[in-house]
Order: sequence, then C-alpha cells, then structure tokens
Amino acid sequence: MSDPGPPIPAASLPLAARAPGKCIVFGEHAVVHGAPELVFAIDLETQVFVRPAETASLNHDPAAAASNPYFARALASAWADGSPLAVQTVSRIPRAAGLGSSAAFVAALTAALGAATGGIDRPTLARRSFEIERGAQGVGSPGDTTAVVGGGYLAINGGDGVPLWTVEDGPRRWEVRRVEDPGWIWVVAHSGIPRSTADAVRAVGTRLARPDGPRLLEEFRRVAEAGVRAVAREDRADTASLLARNQELLREVGVSHPRLEELIRAAAPAAEAAKLTGAGAGGSIVALPVPGQETDLVRRLARAGGLAFVVRPAPEGAGLLAAPGPR
Ligand code: PMV
Repeated sequence: MSDPGPPIPAASLPLAARAPGKCIVFGEHAVVHGAPELVFAIDLETQVFVRPAETASLNHDPAAAASNPYFARALASAWADGSPLAVQTVSRIPRAAGLGSSAAFVAALTAALGAATGGIDRPTLARRSFEIERGAQGVGSPGDTTAVVGGGYLAINGGDGVPLWTVEDGPRRWEVRRVEDPGWIWVVAHSGIPRSTADAVRAVGTRLARPDGPRLLEEFRRVAEAGVRAVAREDRADTASLLARNQELLREVGVSHPRLEELIRAAAPAAEAAKLTGAGAGGSIVALPVPGQETDLVRRLARAGGLAFVVRPAPEGAGLLAAPGPR
C-alpha cells in the first residue's frame, strides 16, 4: 500500500471536523458495479461541531438522531459509548446536487467520532464512512466517501500505481489509487433539480440487468479507464472526447435529464466537453472549459438557468478543525 495520508489524531470533545465535497469526472453508476471511476475532492466543504449534551440532537433537532439515517448510523457504528451528543453542521455543498454533501457529512462526523475515540487511520475512516453511507442509502459504491476522505484526484479500480487502500463489500472490491492533479479548472452547474441517488442507482442496476447490460458496462469500463489515463497524462483532447462518450452512455442508461442536456448544450461554445456528474436524473453537470473561456462558460450556464461555479480540487481530505466552533 502507498501513503494514504495522515491519520486523524486522538482529540477530546468538544471538537470540530471538516470534509470536502466531490466531483466525479468519469465512471459514476458503473463504479457501483465495480468499473473504474475518476473523482476529485472539491473546495466546498461541510463542517461538523460535536459536543457532549443532555440529549442527542442534530442542528438542534432531537428527532434527527433517529430520523436522519446518516446521523443515526454514524452514531451506531462510530460512537460505541452511546452518550448523547449535540452535532451542528455548516455546509457550502449544495444538497442532492451530485456533489457529495452526504458523503462529506458522514466523513466529517466519522472523523470527529474517530478522534474522540482514540484516533482513526485514513483507510479505516474511508471504509467506515462507506459502510455508514451505504447503510443509510441502501445502495452505492465507496467512490464518494473515498474521495472526501482521500482528497485530491483519486482513481477507483483504474489506472496504475500502488493502491492507497481497498474497500470491500461482499464480492465487490474497490482499489483506490492517487492520480496527479493535472491543474485544470473545471466548471460545475447545478440544475436545481433534486433527485434521489438511491432511486437513480437502482434504475441503472435494472437497466444493466437487460441483455445488452454487460456490453454497456464494458463500454463504461473502457471509457473510465481511458479517462483516468488521459487525465493522468494531462491530455485534454482525449479527456474531452471521453467525457462526451461517458455522457452518451449515461444518457443510454437513462440518468440524463432534459435540463442537464440543455446545460450541456449551453456549455458547448465555451467548453471542450461537458457531462452530468454524480447520480444524474437532475443534479449537476461538470464541464472542462476552453482555456481562457472559464468566465464565459460560467455566464453561458447561468444564462441557461444553472447555478454555475468554478471548482478547484481540494488537496486534503477529511480532518479536524482547530477551533471547537459554536456551542
Ligand atoms: O449524486 P451523488 O453525489 O449521490 O453521487 C452518486 C454516484 C453514483 O456512482 C451514482 C453512486 C455511487 O455510490 O457511486
């Protein structure tokens, strides 16, 4: 195994932790079935503030301890002590937008609870965060939780180099490798249309169970593997044509949306390529701007009704914050 990054050190409550969101470049959905994915952590983050309390609560809501499945599962799996905790969150990651808001919440909270129980190494944090998110959602891959724990660009089941860690779930196995940041600027545009990741993942599973499913999955695999390698060698032209091909495949398995297609069309004059990112069926697109036309691209997407912004990779994954935060 190669260097997975610094562990989360032991710390005592009250404490604060953070985790970035993520942007999937290649391979969403197919990664659930073991195909490669390329993903990077983004410079929008979720912060959690954790302190002992008389009754458990999430953002001052005592019912959330039972009703929010991410919160309830995080406490069940990472807080054996069971004493009540008050948790408050602050997030700049749009929710249900395909940008990893639930993974960031889970990883930040699990990092905080790991710190409060003697510290936690990064591979264990990634595996535990995946189990919590997967348990709460019922379906999914470790792509999102891995990205927000690892930071920077990561390839799941793709590329070469020594794995940072592996995550297993029954017969499935995902190997995580570091990919060097090519230094590119990406633009994301949120359609404003919320959707359920779990429903989209199940619909794609049903689609891939049809007779042409194996052929489609093989093509997803080929495109994402070539995409990981194109980004690693900083080849924008190949990356752009593979992004376009990945979008065709996502459209074919039914997770595009008329609003996403409009945004992709609006991006075209100022983008080398654009595709949906995350679960689709709403949510966001990611575009690779023509160099020098980043602002024009943001303007075009905004005019088409998207919430558009530049994203930069966040080199650091989940970690503790120095200040204990609000009481
Ligand atoms: O849209 P998000 O942020 O929930 O991303 C989902 C990514 C999928 O590949 C569709 C599911 C997964 O668990 O990998």
